[in-house]
Amino acid sequence: MLIEVCADVDASLEQELVALVARALPQAHLQGRWYWDSRPDVVVVARAVLGGAVIGFRMVVWRDLDVGGQPYAIAGTGVAVDPVWQRQGIATALTTKVLALADGCAAVVVFLGTDEARSLLERFGFVPLLVPVVSLDARGSEVKETAPCLVKELQPGFVDAVVATGSLCLGRGTW
Ligand SMILES: CC(C)(COP(=O)(O)OP(=O)(O)OC[C@H]1O[C@@H](n2cnc3c(N)ncnc32)[C@H](O)[C@@H]1OP(=O)(O)O)[C@@H](O)C(=O)NCCC(=O)NCCS
Repeated sequence: MLIEVCADVDASLEQELVALVARALPQAHLQGRWYWDSRPDVVVVARAVLGGAVIGFRMVVWRDLDVGGQPYAIAGTGVAVDPVWQRQGIATALTTKVLALADGCAAVVVFLGTDEARSLLERFGFVPLLVPVVSLDARGSEVKETAPCLVKELQPGFVDAVVATGSLCLGRGTW
């Protein structure tokens, strides 16, 4: 398997990602997108062979947060693997790569749109965030996140700081 980090998503890769998400997450109703509402900054893709089709990806959104007056950088991420390629370690490899890219961030934050990724994330040390998560929609209105949020703390103290403020405020959009 080949793992590739892409900062630019051209039209053909975009099409592949949209099609892959439609196969892996048919219930997500992403309306032609491969992410929820924030265009990712980076996508890590897996291919079976050089130049072959994308068989899985993990996207990353970098976000600067203010938590109780302190600045923190976090990485938001989501994953999908083509159903015919699942249970072969592809999401594990993609997650390992994204955690390496996020080195230097205070935390990596995910939302469970389905429960399928829970055990994968728990294996990597992600734990439930026990305070509400809020973001702002395109009109600037506050939206309370309903999907379970899991977090892997990379900078000790980040989760305590979030819990002390009573909620995690993501700013514009989720991922
Ligand atoms: C969740 C998802 C990304 C997992 O992808 P994956 O490539 O199958 O994940 P992995 O193979 O790395 O690991 C999945 C399981 O397969 C097992 N596995 C890994 N390699 C294996 C192999 N060679 N043979 C058998 N099992 C294997 C892992 O141990 C793991 O088991 P666990 O979850 O009980 O710990 C995939 O199911 C998916 O795309 N689901 C739909 C999209 C989705 O739900 N995304 C998350 C939204 S929040």
